[in-house]
Amino acid sequence: MNYSHEELKEKITELKNNLNVTVVGHFYQRDEVYEMADITGDSLELARRCQADKSEFVVFCGVGFMGESVKVLSPSKRVLMPRIACCAMAKMIDGEYYDNSIAILEKSGIKKENILPITYINSSAEVKAKVGEMGGMVCTSSNAKIIITKALGEGKKILFVPDRCLGQNIANQMGKSSCVIGDGIDPNSVDIICYDGFCSVHQLFSLDDIAFYRKKFPGILVAVHPECDPTICDASDFVGSTSQLIKYIKELPLEQKVVVGTEFNMVNRLREKNTYVLSSTKPECPTMNETTLNDLYLTLKSIEDKAPINEIQVNENTAKWAKVALERMLAL
Ligand code: 13P
Ligand code: SF4
Repeated sequence: MNYSHEELKEKITELKNNLNVTVVGHFYQRDEVYEMADITGDSLELARRCQADKSEFVVFCGVGFMGESVKVLSPSKRVLMPRIACCAMAKMIDGEYYDNSIAILEKSGIKKENILPITYINSSAEVKAKVGEMGGMVCTSSNAKIIITKALGEGKKILFVPDRCLGQNIANQMGKSSCVIGDGIDPNSVDIICYDGFCSVHQLFSLDDIAFYRKKFPGILVAVHPECDPTICDASDFVGSTSQLIKYIKELPLEQKVVVGTEFNMVNRLREKNTYVLSSTKPECPTMNETTLNDLYLTLKSIEDKAPINEIQVNENTAKWAKVALERMLAL
């Protein structure tokens, strides 16, 4: 049976009232799904708040690594995802590719014990576990600078996976040198070595887009997410995680125009006026957009029917080390 959005919202509200469940939604979710969430936020806030949440079930509307992180941090919780959609960037690295990266660094003369790995939270539990086992930790876009500063203090080479843009942007902000594995630069000569992953959504923004908006609206501000290419971040007025972008834009005077380089759903609900999307192509994250209101309804209904669907499971040894890597981040 096909229900309208309004009917689905009523059904979802009723199910939420009757079940011991918390619905969680990342900022990039479709508006109608986002509206139904009890907890919203960026990836760091969601990891923290889910850990403190007391419900038996968490229904996580986001991408796979986010639900997985909740399960790893709170193994006794039952975590369901209306869609187990895999972030395209997280998919760019798995355990084998991670091991290959370590082998490349070893071949260039860097001893394994002198490598400190950091993984962006946009990665699988398998990769987080490998990082945890090697003494490394997780970071998100809102705390990457703090985490990298701490790691550099240990005097080791940093291997940053999987997002080359975030790694290089933070290196630039800190005045540190960086390279991407395989770009021909000797990794021995730099502070931060980045894996060659990226977010296809955040690659949509170009210098031409920035030039267009600056010419069209002199005085406009450009605000972007650090998953954008370093050339884009360097040409922008503000670089921040989703939460940091929201705070920055909400604090601007109403008449101040701003053009934003991040996912469409979030930008679209930021401000009624004077806010533009930094691309002529709609920058929608395909995986974040997979989750529909009907998926959310069916997932909640499955809990009511005592046959939960799409439950996240993480193997015990992977969960153990992924938790270590996540907790090292949360401790900071
Ligand atoms: P945040 O850490 O800012 O929530 O970003 C997650 C993400 O996937 C951005 O593309
Ligand atoms: Fe992954 Fe990019 Fe989508 Fe974020 S916007 S979830 S990094 S594919």
